[in-house]
Amino acid sequence: MPAHTAVADAITSRRSVRGFLPRDVDRELIDRILQIAASAPSGSNIQPWKVHVVQGALRDTLSRQLVAAHEQGLPSQREYEYYPVQWRSPYLERRRATGWGLYRTLGIQKGDRQASSLQHRRNFEFFDAPVVFLFAIDSDLEKGSWLDYGMFLQNIMVAARGFGLHTCPQAALANYPDIVKKLLSIPDDQTIVCGISMGYEDPDCPANRFQPARMALSEFVTFHDG
Ligand SMILES: Cc1cc2nc3c(=O)[nH]c(=O)nc-3n(C[C@H](O)[C@H](O)[C@H](O)COP(=O)(O)O)c2cc1C
Repeated sequence: MPAHTAVADAITSRRSVRGFLPRDVDRELIDRILQIAASAPSGSNIQPWKVHVVQGALRDTLSRQLVAAHEQGLPSQREYEYYPVQWRSPYLERRRATGWGLYRTLGIQKGDRQASSLQHRRNFEFFDAPVVFLFAIDSDLEKGSWLDYGMFLQNIMVAARGFGLHTCPQAALANYPDIVKKLLSIPDDQTIVCGISMGYEDPDCPANRFQPARMALSEFVTFHDG
């Protein structure tokens, strides 16, 4: 396969998988993926990423604690705004299309709070993935470093595809930073960015049938030529 095809395949076959098989991922494979991801560019090469790989018993404990917080109905304590504080068009429509699209795939009716809360809870079970990455950043770093971080995160997800693995990026895993910091001994002067669950896709999981559409080029590209 020509290199450009392999690259395009790895990028376009990445999607958010929300159901994983109970199959472990080799430690060497995790190391390789992180090594590849670390070739990401960053302004002045400052490499702002700090990665916590959570597996085994600690993964289960983290899941239990996050699920408990979710069950108690604790509001998100995320340390930064991920979404617009005031939703507006066209983002509101896109957000709704994605949320409702997933729920439609799962047969969850609009307004069925119990069913949607149960699906949301799956975030904190890491969708059964055996490996969870938690990402932290020094809180005094600026927006540019968050730009760098995004490139690093995408590298992880694309590199994982190259080895037949799938991922789900999860801002939800930054909802309860105190739990994450305490369990993983992350100091208070760091911010929890998000998490990524990683493993082998469960092809029978209905949630994995959902594939949100993308805009046409004409909707977001302006060519300037002469
Ligand atoms: C930084 C980031 C955080 C996300 N957080 C969540 C999350 O908490 N839970 C979830 O199910 N999906 C989450 N997603 C997945 C998005 O919903 C998904 O990327 C989007 O709908 C496009 O679908 P695709 O990734 O399958 O192409 C997140 C994506 C990104 C990039």
